[in-house]
Amino acid sequence: MIEKPRDFIAYEKQKARLEERKTSRQLVKSVLGKEFLVNPGVYDTGLDTELMIEHVVVSREENILEIGCGTGAVILSLADRAKEGLGVDINPLAVKNSQENASKLGVSNITFRESNLFKKVHGAFDVVVWNPPYNAYPAQDEVEMMFWDSNNSMKKRFFAEVSSYLKANGRIYFGWADFADLDVKLPYTLAMANGFRLRDQWFRKADSGKYSFGVLEFSRPK
Ligand SMILES: C[S@@+](CC[C@H](N)C(=O)[O-])C[C@H]1O[C@@H](n2cnc3c(N)ncnc32)[C@H](O)[C@@H]1O
Repeated sequence: MIEKPRDFIAYEKQKARLEERKTSRQLVKSVLGKEFLVNPGVYDTGLDTELMIEHVVVSREENILEIGCGTGAVILSLADRAKEGLGVDINPLAVKNSQENASKLGVSNITFRESNLFKKVHGAFDVVVWNPPYNAYPAQDEVEMMFWDSNNSMKKRFFAEVSSYLKANGRIYFGWADFADLDVKLPYTLAMANGFRLRDQWFRKADSGKYSFGVLEFSRPK
């Protein structure tokens, strides 16, 4: 798991990023060689986004579901490795931003829709991905849910519900970090409590060296 001691408290930095996201103009960000529009009110891509794209395994015979698609950077970057996919987000600004990026990149095998977790999702997927809001601070609205997950309630629901949307041999890829102000064991505990096991994990330090982002891969036990 994650090494100790952890001393980076994310709150102030994420609060400032949130203010910036609420007031920013449209940006253009390069993510692993592809350009994405990042609209106001939508999560800006980062090292965590890139780690996801690098570590998710999906094949041309498989379908993929991304919860919390943001700008669409993750699922749109994986589109040509997958048969088809669905990206959902609770924030309507994110859904619109993802659709704009899909048109701009000419991606036609991925659709997007507004959904609170799995509420508007139908069917079962080979791969389910979520790079979630990490911290448990209270979110005042849907835009703030890019960073805050009040009382970790969405992460708890995700692990309780994902099984119904995952094929028998399906895989979950879950974004994570080792900030001092989050319960770093939470996804491992929730996954285990809901019948999943950790298959692999990858962590990378941010440039500051103060914290790391990770991707955790879970599946059902064989
Ligand atoms: C950390 S951002 C990740 C965005 C993008 N996937 C990326 O990696 O760049 C978390 C995303 O989850 C979305 N989100 C939070 N709670 C959600 C929920 N209950 N249902 C769907 N999406 C949710 C947020 O709106 C946000 O777009």
